[in-house]
Amino acid sequence: MMGTDITNDKPGLSRVDGRLKVTGKAKYAAEYDVKGLVYGVLVGSTVTKGSIKNIDTKKAEGAPGVLSVLTYLNAPKIPGYQTDSPPPKGPLKIFNNNQVYFNGQPIALVVADSFERALFAASLVNATYNVDTHQTDLKANIANGQIPGRGKDYLKGQEDAWKTAPIKIEQEYTIPTEVHNPMELHAIIARWDADDKVTVWDKTQGVKGTQRSIAQAFKLPPDNVQVNAPFVGGAFGAALRTWPHEIAAVLAAKAVGKPVKLVLSRADMFTSVGYRPYTWQKVGIGASADGKLAGITHEATGQTSVYEDFTEGVVNISQLMYACPNVNTRYKIVSLNVNVPTPMRGPGEATGAFALECAMDELSYQLNIDPIELRMRNYAETDPSNNKPYSSKFLSDAYKIGADKIGWTNRNQKPGAVTENGWLAGYGMAAGMFGAHRSSATVLARMMADGTLILQTAVTDIGPGTGTGMVTVAAETMGIPADKIRFDLGDSSLPPSPTQGGSQVMSTVGSAVHDACVALKEKFKALAGNGDATNYTQILKQQNLDKLEVTTASKGGEEQGKYSMYSWSVHFMKVLVHPATGVVKIDKAISVADAGTIISAKTARSQMIGGTIMGTGMALMEEAIIDHRYGRLVNNNFADYHVPVQADIPQVEAYFVNKPDLIINPIGAKGMGEIATVGVAAAVANAVYNATGKRVRDLPITPDKLLV
Ligand code: MOS
Repeated sequence: MMGTDITNDKPGLSRVDGRLKVTGKAKYAAEYDVKGLVYGVLVGSTVTKGSIKNIDTKKAEGAPGVLSVLTYLNAPKIPGYQTDSPPPKGPLKIFNNNQVYFNGQPIALVVADSFERALFAASLVNATYNVDTHQTDLKANIANGQIPGRGKDYLKGQEDAWKTAPIKIEQEYTIPTEVHNPMELHAIIARWDADDKVTVWDKTQGVKGTQRSIAQAFKLPPDNVQVNAPFVGGAFGAALRTWPHEIAAVLAAKAVGKPVKLVLSRADMFTSVGYRPYTWQKVGIGASADGKLAGITHEATGQTSVYEDFTEGVVNISQLMYACPNVNTRYKIVSLNVNVPTPMRGPGEATGAFALECAMDELSYQLNIDPIELRMRNYAETDPSNNKPYSSKFLSDAYKIGADKIGWTNRNQKPGAVTENGWLAGYGMAAGMFGAHRSSATVLARMMADGTLILQTAVTDIGPGTGTGMVTVAAETMGIPADKIRFDLGDSSLPPSPTQGGSQVMSTVGSAVHDACVALKEKFKALAGNGDATNYTQILKQQNLDKLEVTTASKGGEEQGKYSMYSWSVHFMKVLVHPATGVVKIDKAISVADAGTIISAKTARSQMIGGTIMGTGMALMEEAIIDHRYGRLVNNNFADYHVPVQADIPQVEAYFVNKPDLIINPIGAKGMGEIATVGVAAAVANAVYNATGKRVRDLPITPDKLLV
C-alpha cells in the first residue's frame, strides 16, 4: 500500500528548537527583560455603537504607579493617521476620535510601573457614551449584503443549471464566528532608542510586514524600526497584520519615554486580533442519475466591520474543486458593529469547504453513490476555472490512502444503521484544497571555518517548525550534518522573507535556502579547482579564509502563469454518537495530504494533526456568541468558548502522498498549513449524518442539535 507512514520510514529531524521550547529558554514577545520596562493595559468600550460623551481618567491617573492614561483626547497624534483625504474605510485608528464602532474597542491605555497597578487603574477609567442602535446579527442583516468593492459574481456556463438537473439538492449552511486563540497571548514590548528609532519585540507572523506598518504609522524609515520575533506561540492568521494595540504600545512608549509592554488579555483576544467571520452559505448542486455534476451554485455572505471591509474566498472552492460544466458563485459581506475579521487557517476555503463538501455528501445519499466514488466521477484533471494543467494533483491517491486507513469498507451507506456498544457509529469524508503559493525570499548562507553553516532570513515560525524544515533542506543540499547548521530567523534586519501565512513558507523560503546552498557550493567549487569541492573546512583553510558566504534572492518563475498550483487534502472521520445525549466522539480521524515532497516528516505530521484538531473544534465546539441585545460577547474566555482537549481527540493519523511537485520549486514541496484544516468540519458533519441520519448544517454540531 502506498502512503506509508513516512514518519516511521524517514522521520527526519526532531525540532531544532524543541529543547529551547520545552526548557523555557525560548523567549516569546512578552518575556524580554527590557531595562526600565513599564506596563500598558487597554480599556475597552462597554457600548457597541455611538460616541464617547465623557471619559474620566482622573482617578486612574491618581492611582499608585500610574504614568499616563492615553485617550483620544490626549494621545499624541500618530503621523501616519493624518491624511488629507482619509479613505472611507480602513484599519481602526486607535485613539483617533470619540467614535465607537464595536463593543470592546480600545478607548484608553493605562501605563503604570507594574502590570497589576496598570490593571487596577484601568478599572478606574470611567466613560459615558452617546449610544446608537447597533447591528451585530448577521442572520438578521443578510438582506444588507453587498458585493465587496473588488469582488464580482462568477459564472461558467449556464447560471443555476443545477435547478434543471434530474437529481439535485439545495441547502443553507452557517458557520459561527471562530476565534484563533493561539496559546500565546498577543504581546508587544516597544522601546524607542532615539527620537526616530524604535525596537519592538512583538508577536507577529511577519517581521518585515510589522516593520513596514510601524514605519508607516510613525513616518520612520523602515530601517529605523527593528522587529524581533524569534519565537511565536501559535497564530493561525491572527498575527498576519499589525493591530491597533501594537501601534498603541509604540505610541505609549514615546509618550512616557520608557519601554512599554502590552499583553492582551484572553478576553481582548476576542475583540482585538480578528477571527473567522460568521458566514451564511447556500449551495445548490445538480447531477445526472449516474452522478455527473450538471451545475453548482454557491452563495455566501460573511460579516465584516463598519470601519473596514474584510473579504475572503469562501465560494472559490466551488469554482475549481470538481469538473462541472456550469458553475456560478456570489459572495457578499455585511457591515456590522463588530471588530474586523482576519484570515484564519484556511481563510475562505475552510468556510466554503464546509458547505460544498457537506452538499456533495448530501448529493451522494440522494444518488445512492459512495461519496468517494461521486468525487472520482467528477474529478478535475485540469483546473475547471481556467483549463490550465495542474503543476501536480494526487488527490485521488490521497482518497485511496485515507479510505484504506480509516477502514472505509466498514461504512454502511444507510445512515443510522450501525451501533457499537450502544453508540451510533458513522463514517464521513471531505476534501480540501488551498493555493500552493511561492513568493520571494532572500537567504544568506555562510560557511564558517569550523564547518558551521549559518543561514539567515527574516521569516518567522509560528509553530510549524520552519527552522527544522530549513535545516533539513540545507543539510541535504550541502551534504553536511544538521547539527552543523544554524538557522537565524524572526529578525527584521535579516534578509527579507515573506510573512508566515498562506501556506507559502516551505515552498518560498525552503527553495531560497536550497538556492543559497547551491550557490554556496558553486563558490566552493570555483575555489577548489580540480580538488575536492565537498570538504568545505579544508577549502577554507587552504584559501586562508575564515568564512565563505553568498546571499541569494529566489522566487517563482513563469511556470506560475502556466500552471494551476494547489495543495490537496482529504479527511476521513469515524464518529460515535450517543443516541440519548447527542454527544459526538471522534473515534478515529485520518488526514491525508498531497503537499508535494514532505521535507520534514515529524513536523509535517504535527502540522496535519494540529489542523485536524482545529477543524474538529470548528465542527463540534467553537462558537463566539454575541448577545445581540447588547452587542457584547458572552463567551470571551476558555471556560465558555470550547476548544478540543486531549480527551476529545483520541486518535488522529496523518499520511502523505509525498510525490514531488518540481514545477513549483526545486525542492518539490507544496504548502500544508491550510489544507490540514480545510474540509475537516465537513468530514465530521458527514460522519455524524452517516451515524445518525441527522444533517446538521449550522456549526458547531453541539449535542442539542442532534436531539431534535
Ligand atoms: Mo494563515 S490564515 O495562512 O496565518
